[in-house]
Amino acid sequence: MMLSTRENVHQKLDWLATFSESTLGVTRLLYSKAWKDAREALIAYMKSLGFSVYEDAAGNVFGRIQGETDDVILTGSHLDTVKNGGKYDGAYGVLAGIHAVYHTWKTYGTPYKTLEAAIFCEEEGSRFKTAYIGSRYIVGDASEEDFSAEDAAGHSVNQAREALGLTASLSFTGRSDIERFIELHIEQGQQLEQSGDHLGIVKAIVGQQRFTYQISGSANHAGTTPMNMRRDALEAAALMITAINRLTKEAGDPFVATVGTIEAAPGSVNVIPGEVTFTLDVRHPEDEKLTAHVLQLEKACVAIADEHNVKLDVQRFVTIEAVPMDEQMVNDLHEICEQEQLTHKLMYSGAGHDAQVVGRSVPAAMLFVPSRHGLSHHPDEYTEPQYLENGIAILEKALSSWAWKEK
Ligand code: GLV
Ligand code: MN
Ligand code: MN
Repeated sequence: MMLSTRENVHQKLDWLATFSESTLGVTRLLYSKAWKDAREALIAYMKSLGFSVYEDAAGNVFGRIQGETDDVILTGSHLDTVKNGGKYDGAYGVLAGIHAVYHTWKTYGTPYKTLEAAIFCEEEGSRFKTAYIGSRYIVGDASEEDFSAEDAAGHSVNQAREALGLTASLSFTGRSDIERFIELHIEQGQQLEQSGDHLGIVKAIVGQQRFTYQISGSANHAGTTPMNMRRDALEAAALMITAINRLTKEAGDPFVATVGTIEAAPGSVNVIPGEVTFTLDVRHPEDEKLTAHVLQLEKACVAIADEHNVKLDVQRFVTIEAVPMDEQMVNDLHEICEQEQLTHKLMYSGAGHDAQVVGRSVPAAMLFVPSRHGLSHHPDEYTEPQYLENGIAILEKALSSWAWKEK
């Protein structure tokens, strides 16, 4: 096994990307075979580096370097990906965490505080109708309901977990030993590429709400039902999607709304669709404005449903509040970047992250490295090796300054 250096992180990212259910990009959904294999390979990797490795019942994994005290400085990110995603989203934070903890330990010896590299089981919400299970589980913010959420095949999170051999009993109390958390991540936008900065220091992460919109009309014969006698759920859905996009453009930046999936039933060329379900993801850095906007969208869609004589049922399945990052940690990162002469930019994150979940109860920070063309959730995600290494260099300095002092 090649030993960990800051320099080989891009090779390790290529290696981790081989654990995929798809050949187009990386698909590593929670509790899939590819996810299990990747996780086992990372456990073996961390053990070979000398970490003591343990896991929790949700399938999160931690590589620990015991310090003089049990207070944990945690760093890491998520192992799962979206469908046909890239090599970097989540994976970079996981490998960067392992490499930075390892190097800091090898350079400075036993830390005063305990260091842990975290591999969160799930963040993307790509398989089940829930999201951020890994980080929510460790801070005691997950529930039975999350583990009952189903995938498209009707398997619950818990059934899939147990089918993979993860049968330890779940506990929803969360950990109380984490003193702070830092996540390294690709930016997934174009701000750094445009400004030319080496690194982004995140000041806050936007809030997000996710919904299912279920429209019920009535299925009927495509040839014998006159146009004015139809209750076409797909036509109503098309109008709703157009209204959601129009209203969100009118609301202006930084509002964003995305209809990312749609299913029409019964799904036949000669049958009027009687049932349609689509998902909606809406984001903004201010929770009150976000909530007002999602209500406006729902109201507009209810009006469309009424006009078209179909029924609309809206269910929210994810609410993640906007979260500021810890001010002191942000200042520390700023100073370290200055010392290392790496240019940096203070910025918001429009993507959701584990740091957002952990940051609600524990001081947390995030560092971004540039993404080529701002591309992510896409097979062509790419970050220059030098940028990947810069991020790890700053993470190592930050870990050493936090784990080797008493306060
Ligand atoms: C997670 O990547 C999200 O922002 O959807
Ligand atoms: Mn991510
Ligand atoms: Mn993502």
